[in-house]
Amino acid sequence: MHARLITESIYWVGAIDWDRRLFDDLIPLPDGTTYNAYLVRGAEKTALLDAVDPAMLDTLLARLSSAGIEKIDYVVSHHTEQDHSGGIPRILAQYPEAQVLASDKAKGLLTDHLGLSEDRLRVVQDGETIDLGGLTLEFIYFPWVHWPETMLTWLPERRVLFTCDLFGSHLATSDVLAHGDPRILPAAKRYYAEIMMPFRGFIEKNLDRVTALDPAMIAPSHGPVYDEPGLILAAYRDWVSGPPKSLVLLPYISMHGSTRILVDHFVDACARRNVGVEQINLVDADVGKLAVLMVDAATIVLGTPTVLGGPHPRVAYAALLANLLKPKARHLSVIGSMGWGGKAVEQLAAAVSSLKLELLPPVLCKGLPKPADIEAVEALAEAIAGKHAGL
Ligand code: FEO
Repeated sequence: MHARLITESIYWVGAIDWDRRLFDDLIPLPDGTTYNAYLVRGAEKTALLDAVDPAMLDTLLARLSSAGIEKIDYVVSHHTEQDHSGGIPRILAQYPEAQVLASDKAKGLLTDHLGLSEDRLRVVQDGETIDLGGLTLEFIYFPWVHWPETMLTWLPERRVLFTCDLFGSHLATSDVLAHGDPRILPAAKRYYAEIMMPFRGFIEKNLDRVTALDPAMIAPSHGPVYDEPGLILAAYRDWVSGPPKSLVLLPYISMHGSTRILVDHFVDACARRNVGVEQINLVDADVGKLAVLMVDAATIVLGTPTVLGGPHPRVAYAALLANLLKPKARHLSVIGSMGWGGKAVEQLAAAVSSLKLELLPPVLCKGLPKPADIEAVEALAEAIAGKHAGL
């Protein structure tokens, strides 16, 4: 395991996790991930930027050894989540001169989560610089991407921006640099949807500051290093600030076929009005795909049968997920079926209450859909087409 030079004096010393399939026991990782760490060698001092997941610390140590690193002066901890900080205690044991540099809010988190001793910790302020000898580390507070303590590091002499989770992608690849790999933007969008979307207001507020740096490289802590950073910066600008697209996201369940009949009519009715629909059967849905579709959809329509007086639990889960991920959708509706009554619509609307969506007239049929139910579905599609006009 060798350190890999990404530009003069800067090495990638991370680990590739080809086999991991789930993060936080929630997020599917169809393409694995990487835990990136970087070594910056100045004329006088050496800094390690982030560690790796503790399960892969031996890989980081082997890469440091391959580079002949006998002394580390600073360990920059951009973010305390353990897939980047979990290796720090062993790094400090192995390199006794090393001092951890972290934001003011990270200090308590690092002591709480890792038991780090405060005498090995030094708080750096927003805008503060550290001279490594011909190379400068400049710290940029960028809170809530996605914990409150997060900061970035700017290395002006090489114009490299180290961004930890921000701009990351869960993509295991042996290529450290992106080199135009077409898999990266879709993977980054998935990552944004799953991790960053709830914090898009914070990203929007701080994005100009990092764009103005005009970085030559963006080096995140998951996935490849962007050697053409304009692509990911433009993509984030669209995901964060762009208007939603004329797209309906339709997660649904159908137990005995009635809801499915409505779903099929609704999709057809939207298509005839040039409104795109992504229909996702929640029986075996990929949560990551569902999240990605939330990035752009202007309308969410939930398709559900009535179960014990409420929505099907899988549909309730999709609603809860949307409420947590805070997409920029503007409209909500519910289509589905019931045997004799229930509160499926009210419960689903309550489940997404933090999104402040406009509720368009729901369509719940009793038993099999009747002609009036099909007409109501046509009317819903017409209403959505009207709302999407001009998007
Ligand atoms: Fe990759 Fe928030 O940790």
